[in-house]
Amino acid sequence: MDFSLNCKSSRLFGIHLTSLTCKCLVLIAIFLVFRTFCMPSISGYGGVRVEQNRIDLIQSESLALDSGYGIRRDKFLEVPQIVWGLNNQKIAFARACLTARLLNRTLLMPSLSASLFYKEVDLLQPISFDKVFQFERFNSLCKGFVQLGRFSDVSNRSRVFEIHKGSGRRWTIERDLDQLREAREEPSTNEYEVIRIVGKNPFLWHDHWPVKDYARALECLVLVDEFSKEADRVVSKIREVGRDIRSAQNGKDTDGSSLQQVPYVAVHMRVEIDWMIHCKKLEQRSKMSEICSSKEEIMERVGNIAGLETPLIVYLAVADTLLGNSSILSGWKEGLVPFEKKKLGVDGVYKKYPYLIQSAIDYEVCLRADVFVGNSFSTFSSLIVLERTQKMIRTGMANSCGTDVMWPSYAYNILGESNGPRRWMTNISDSSLRAISYGSNAISCSTS
Ligand SMILES: *[C@@H]1O[C@H](CO)[C@@H](O)[C@H](O)[C@H]1NC(C)=O
Ligand SMILES: *[C@@H]1O[C@H](CO)[C@@H](O)[C@H](O)[C@H]1NC(C)=O
Ligand SMILES: *[C@@H]1O[C@H](CO)[C@@H](O)[C@H](O)[C@H]1NC(C)=O
Ligand SMILES: *[C@@H]1O[C@H](CO)[C@@H](O)[C@H](O)[C@H]1NC(C)=O
Repeated sequence: MDFSLNCKSSRLFGIHLTSLTCKCLVLIAIFLVFRTFCMPSISGYGGVRVEQNRIDLIQSESLALDSGYGIRRDKFLEVPQIVWGLNNQKIAFARACLTARLLNRTLLMPSLSASLFYKEVDLLQPISFDKVFQFERFNSLCKGFVQLGRFSDVSNRSRVFEIHKGSGRRWTIERDLDQLREAREEPSTNEYEVIRIVGKNPFLWHDHWPVKDYARALECLVLVDEFSKEADRVVSKIREVGRDIRSAQNGKDTDGSSLQQVPYVAVHMRVEIDWMIHCKKLEQRSKMSEICSSKEEIMERVGNIAGLETPLIVYLAVADTLLGNSSILSGWKEGLVPFEKKKLGVDGVYKKYPYLIQSAIDYEVCLRADVFVGNSFSTFSSLIVLERTQKMIRTGMANSCGTDVMWPSYAYNILGESNGPRRWMTNISDSSLRAISYGSNAISCSTS
């Protein structure tokens, strides 16, 4: 479903609709269509549950129009700078949002961190949220659910109530939640215009919310134009190369086919030495074997995915240390043509930016791929699959674990059908993000 197309055509008929109104109308329409046509025909593994989620999601978006629901705009929550890798920052940001929602407060736009040097505070390179993600867009997509504000919205910053978050083993999930509930219910605290959370990376730890709430907050994150255009550029480059390879094989001219129709597979290939050491330890500690995959195993399993039409470009999202390393570029099944940033000639696009932005661009490239293959123990892969699952649910797939779906995802570390990787979907009804984000092989799809 392409919202922008629908919305553009509405303007053609001379009706001026704001994009939010338009989007909501489209969503209501989709909801009605689903209710009419899809509900009775649901069957198969996990189908009913998925169906229910879709309805819930769409309903909650339609409800956002209802002004009765909402978050107070005159009370604020301030949080410390958000740190670590892109995935940790996204999760921590979502937690900050959900904390603000619990307190029924507007979250003051936090600083993210452009670099990965989390131990040396002076190297953290704070970067304002709105330099990376669209501020207004966030608020319009998340309207009624969570709300971001600016420091200039606060009338008097001199009276702030500080909540000190503990850390370490004794700071349990229960204590963390009790403290928040107390702040919400205690009138003398609640009256403060600003509540400030203080503590060492408080949002990296405790999880009090179901996957659905995270999904709802995360989907409101849209990259600012500058960076989404860079992602467009990389995706176009991948498709162009794919088109050239196809037309070279078919001996036809390239002009005929649209770039949009040239598919690509993205593989988040974690085979660098640091990861291999980490995942071997993880396997020992958790007594599980399906965590690490060698590059040979990844190549073989990706090659066994059913229904891939070759020749086909395989975009490898790999660590910088592996760029230009011939060992990951050879050994692929005939017809699968691997590329990474360097071989594509787009490493220059990335080099202009700090770590966080590079990571965000790669995330987009994987998100938009026709097929995505990742490691179920990687948070980066898991967040991509979460977002792709939501996209899939919107299109009304009856049995989303099948192979004949749009935007399928796979986990290469878990064996699936015909020696391929296992199909992977996020269980949106899971009660905690932990199950899907920090080391799990719960990937919802079983082999039949
Ligand atoms: C927040 O407070 C407002 C006003 O008191 C209320 O109308 C609204 O329902 C509350 N929202 C949530 C999410 O609790
Ligand atoms: C802000 O609050 C402080 C403390 O309550 C008060 O002394 C000060 O006058 C207030 N400033 C304004 C501009 O209202
Ligand atoms: C290529 O990557 C492998 C690990 O997959 C590593 O052992 C090797 O040293 C790398 N080669 C180069 C030239 O960097
Ligand atoms: C999804 O999560 C819910 C809640 O934890 C659980 O009951 C259900 O069995 C899970 N579904 C799948 C397909 O794993």
